[in-house]
Amino acid sequence: MQGEPEVAVLRLGHRPGRDDRMTTHVGLTARALGADRVVLPDEASGPADTIRDITGRFGGPFEVEVRGDWRPLLRDWAGVVVHLTMYGLPVQEVEADVRADHREGPVLVVLGAEKVPFEVYDRADHNVGVTNQPHSEVAGLAVFLDRLFEGRELDREWADAARQVVPQETGKKVVSLDDESSGEEGQDPDGAASADG
Ligand SMILES: C[S@@+](CC[C@H](N)C(=O)[O-])C[C@H]1O[C@@H](n2cnc3c(N)ncnc32)[C@H](O)[C@@H]1O
Repeated sequence: MQGEPEVAVLRLGHRPGRDDRMTTHVGLTARALGADRVVLPDEASGPADTIRDITGRFGGPFEVEVRGDWRPLLRDWAGVVVHLTMYGLPVQEVEADVRADHREGPVLVVLGAEKVPFEVYDRADHNVGVTNQPHSEVAGLAVFLDRLFEGRELDREWADAARQVVPQETGKKVVSLDDESSGEEGQDPDGAASADG
């Protein structure tokens, strides 16, 4: 988030077709919950485009990077590396240490798709379990980011948005911020955010 050391999310592995939705949601969750950047594998160019599109419409800053080899990024990361894994130490036991690390510098959060190579466990400064039960990288990321930011991410502000959702007790309201005539749009933003579906 702005004014804090960078938080980047590295998604390891992507099976085109099968993982498209999950990889897209890793990126959207990273963006929505306070990370500054997501790094996706080469094969995930489709999800990368979707995340960029949502950022263009609903604001940033948020960077989407696609790269072929994650090893140099992991090896050379000038900060702390957190690997989310069901085999790691319970998040509630390590979150204070991770927050202290984040006050000092950037955090790279690593998520798997399939089996994660052992070198990742070895390189990580913290192997962190969000429970020690198998579940989803999207759920693990969401809980971890909320613990990292202690809820501050829920109040973050968005720059350069073309559209803004106006919270409603009932129904859907979206305002267009695109032009000077900035006014209310239709009541259904779902077409604008296909990732919502
Ligand atoms: C569907 S899991 C597959 C894991 C794979 N079977 C393995 O052995 O590494 C995909 C990713 O979700 C995340 N994940 C799943 N359960 C988790 C948990 N309890 N805590 C933290 N992350 C978790 C991890 O990043 C994992 O690599």
